Amino acid sequence: MSDAIAKTAQQAGTSAVQRCIVPACAALFAIRQPIYVCPRCGGPLEIEIPLEPLQAVADLRERWRARAASHDPRDRSGVWRYRELLPFDDDAPVVTLFEGNTPLYDAPRAAKYAGLAALRLKHQGCNPTASFKDTGMTTAVTQAKLLGARTVVCASTGNTAASLAAFAARAELQCAILLPQGQISPAKLAQSMDYGAVVCEIAGNFDDCMRLISELADVPSIYIANSVNPFRIEGQKTVAFELLEQCGWRVPDHLVVPGGNMGNSAALGKGFDEMRRLGLIDRLPKISIVQAEGSAPLAHLFAGLKSSEIAADAAFPDEIAPVANPRTLATAIKIGAPVSWKKALRAVLRTRGSIITVSEPEIADAKAIIGRDGIGCEPASATTVAGIRKLVSAGKIRADESVVAVLTGHVLKDPDYASHYHRGTLSFESLTAEGAAKSVPIVGAFRNAPEKVAASKAAILKSLESRR
Ligand code: F0G
Repeated sequence: MSDAIAKTAQQAGTSAVQRCIVPACAALFAIRQPIYVCPRCGGPLEIEIPLEPLQAVADLRERWRARAASHDPRDRSGVWRYRELLPFDDDAPVVTLFEGNTPLYDAPRAAKYAGLAALRLKHQGCNPTASFKDTGMTTAVTQAKLLGARTVVCASTGNTAASLAAFAARAELQCAILLPQGQISPAKLAQSMDYGAVVCEIAGNFDDCMRLISELADVPSIYIANSVNPFRIEGQKTVAFELLEQCGWRVPDHLVVPGGNMGNSAALGKGFDEMRRLGLIDRLPKISIVQAEGSAPLAHLFAGLKSSEIAADAAFPDEIAPVANPRTLATAIKIGAPVSWKKALRAVLRTRGSIITVSEPEIADAKAIIGRDGIGCEPASATTVAGIRKLVSAGKIRADESVVAVLTGHVLKDPDYASHYHRGTLSFESLTAEGAAKSVPIVGAFRNAPEKVAASKAAILKSLESRR
């Protein structure tokens, strides 16, 4: 640790601490100690916010709502608006792009497709860099500033990189991102280049990039901003608070999220849990995670759990079997060895949710039907609606229950995918029984290809008539 980092670490005034989540260890560490995993046992770390002082505050909800109308930069942020529950002091050097404050939409067509009476979509793609990552990056980069880091780094399937690059630019920090070469949507890559990051294209997949990141963790001037970092989770958990506010503090029956590296599901689980422990809600939504079939290590693990293990709180295995060669066109979640799987599994077990997989054609059609509600999202986000449809038909979600799906990224994050789907040129790689790769075309149910129309009023009206 450099002298500057050690000094700032000692000066922290907040009473929050970092705690190892492994029950047998549960070691505590100072809030400004620059660590990412438990130095004692290697387990994941979580920030523990003292909730008792807040239990005495009667008007938390009103206070948060009032801030939404203020022009203080921290109040304009949908994350820092909830700062009582963030591990920072009032004078923290907040790095914000006014993230959060994202819409909760009704989606009647997607609801009907999924077999529900109603469905709401929390669109995290409406963040400044167009993905949910911004809500966690504001807190992680603020912590990087406090620790005196010079360079922030992450491994990424594209969105984390774009978000970190933007917040690093705001904070005037150097940013380096490790990306699996040729496996990132060009739109996401372009964002990182535009925000001035050092873009390292690695010959390997996301999991290889993540391994390199853990090797960089001991360089004193470097700060790691992947979701293994518990300060990312602190920002992302506030999405649960904002969602509850938008629901008038009526807890939805189900919350469904895509699963990749598992930071998002872990964060939402923590957010709802804190609200319940504060007494602001009296029950938890069932949190379910949906993975793409070819990149589904946690769904495989979940399917192998016995029902007694599913019922028990935090009774989870020590290891997860990684998927060696993850496959999916939803490149954001093409991940074989998720870092935050323990926290995510704990959230699902605590709330009695599910972890399931969906196929490539299911993701593609779900994405298109979300589009028909006028709400574009990227493929990874559409796993939610595809997953809800499966959970409804399996009887795990009733048609009349209240369901919220979290859309994690904007449609323009991956315009090539949308274009290929609608033109009928989308295909994915599948494995034969012998293990050989073969290309399988996706024939979308909601294809909407452009047509060539003559430059005349009559031709346009004829085209409209034929599509009524
Ligand atoms: N949806 C999108 C659009 C994502 O970019 C990601 C993750 C996920 C879902 C999965 O979220 O990892 O918290 O379970 N993207 C990371 C990245 C891995 O590098 O941008 P998770």
